[in-house]
Amino acid sequence: MRVQGQLIKQGAEARVFHLPTFLTTPQGCIAKERFPKTYRHPDLDRQLTARRVIQEARCLQKCRKSGMDTPTVYLVDIPASTIYMERIVGVTVKHRLLRSQAINYADIDQAALAEKIGTSLAKMHAQDVVHGDLTTSNLMIRDDNGSLVVIDFGLSYVSVLPEDKAVDLYVLERAFSSTHPNTEDLFARILEHYAKGYKQSRAILAKLDEVRLRGRKRSMVG
Ligand SMILES: Nc1ncnc2c1ncn2[C@@H]1O[C@H](COP(=O)(O)OP(=O)(O)O)[C@@H](O)[C@H]1O
Ligand SMILES: [Mg+2]
Repeated sequence: MRVQGQLIKQGAEARVFHLPTFLTTPQGCIAKERFPKTYRHPDLDRQLTARRVIQEARCLQKCRKSGMDTPTVYLVDIPASTIYMERIVGVTVKHRLLRSQAINYADIDQAALAEKIGTSLAKMHAQDVVHGDLTTSNLMIRDDNGSLVVIDFGLSYVSVLPEDKAVDLYVLERAFSSTHPNTEDLFARILEHYAKGYKQSRAILAKLDEVRLRGRKRSMVG
């Protein structure tokens, strides 16, 4: 089935469309279509792309079962490498923070935001889902109830290793520090809620210290 809708993002791996009239939902739906990588043999590419699409949909479902807020998956069209999912009506955390940067985020309830992000990530890692691309554009806030929604599981995978989860957190920390000045306290609070919500987080937070140190060494050399 070919996707017909408005292109809202053309990424490196996928195109994201808004289908305004899909399934009679008032907000329409989102279709995320992975496109072929032409440098790969077509048979191999089809196989790898199918595997990726299934993995993305599976991680989305796994998270949802854990009580996290993620887009509902409506349909997975494997031959067309497309996931049809709920369209979240809201803003990305990136957009929200950038909008309030000039007033030093004075109009944002930072404690509440940190709690939402921290508990959500705790649930995700407790399910052994590693997101793989945690940035503030992959976190959204629903307009209607302020719920925090984690999106874009395109690079996600299942792992029990503290190291993988620590790197996940580190990627988010770097995203905060590079995109949103003066959010060190906010990120520290996120980690507090993460620790509170996830019993096995000690090993992960210890690893996070190691990963940070490695990152710092690398940037001193580079
Ligand atoms: N379910 C959704 N509801 C609303 N907007 C979405 C949804 N999924 C993606 N988007 C929008 O499209 C953008 C790109 O989608 P994403 O899944 O992050 O793909 P990419 O892998 O290209 O980053 C997001 O940053 C968001 O603005
Ligand atoms: Mg994204």
